[in-house]
Amino acid sequence: MNNGKQMKAHTITTDEEWSIRHLQGESWIENYWKSRDHPHRQFLVEKIIKFQPKTVLEIGCASGPNLYHIAKKLPDAEIKGIDINPIAVQKGNEWLKQEGVSNVKLEVGKAQKLEQYAEKSFDVVFTDAVLIYIAPNEIKHVAKEMLRISHTIILNEWHVFNKPLAYFLSLYHYLRTLNRSFKPRSTSLGFYVGHWARDYENLFEQFVSKEKIRITKLPKEVWNDKGWRRWGAIIEVIE
Ligand SMILES: C[S@@+](CC[C@H](N)C(=O)[O-])C[C@H]1O[C@@H](n2cnc3c(N)ncnc32)[C@H](O)[C@@H]1O
Repeated sequence: MNNGKQMKAHTITTDEEWSIRHLQGESWIENYWKSRDHPHRQFLVEKIIKFQPKTVLEIGCASGPNLYHIAKKLPDAEIKGIDINPIAVQKGNEWLKQEGVSNVKLEVGKAQKLEQYAEKSFDVVFTDAVLIYIAPNEIKHVAKEMLRISHTIILNEWHVFNKPLAYFLSLYHYLRTLNRSFKPRSTSLGFYVGHWARDYENLFEQFVSKEKIRITKLPKEVWNDKGWRRWGAIIEVIE
């Protein structure tokens, strides 16, 4: 998916950089829209539509390539997407309309600010390559809020399956940040491997029982990139 010539996704390290990314050109927004046929989308969309949700929210939807597919498969569902980048939202709404999709609405919004949504307002809330930009000092709040507003959470993010490695890397990250104000208290909050990876089981176990969490390794054929092959996972939290 990294076919933008202006700035490659892996050079982006924080979510704030995404909000001003249009200043570096809009081609990445179009590239996401054009990546609708990327194989990982079908895999993720299948995981979502099997719940036959009536209400869906994607956090960090860019111009809506995933929501385009969900809308085609669930024409009666009420579908929302939020993204930190205003141009991605504007373009996405235009392109969805051009494609005749009328049940998706994209708005500017931030993963860290979900207060406007009432408890359990969505059947499914999902992210696709977005929490990899959320730093350890914010992830716990985001996870708790996602649980509050949804019945089911589905994430396509970077998960560490090897728990001793997760522990070691988190400790390493902790030692490196000792002089900063942020002090992680648990191994679940994340470590930096080009993006933020973390132990999502450990993270969600702070809020729900282990039986409600299901983690599946992303098959390499659906995203054959070094990072996604190693860390890519679908994380489901089903209440
Ligand atoms: C790697 S792209 C993935 C886009 C989309 N989910 C997809 O699969 O095509 C990351 C997206 O997340 C958005 N984003 C980054 N941090 C965010 C945040 N804190 N809240 C909401 N959106 C965010 C970016 O603007 C960008 O559109």
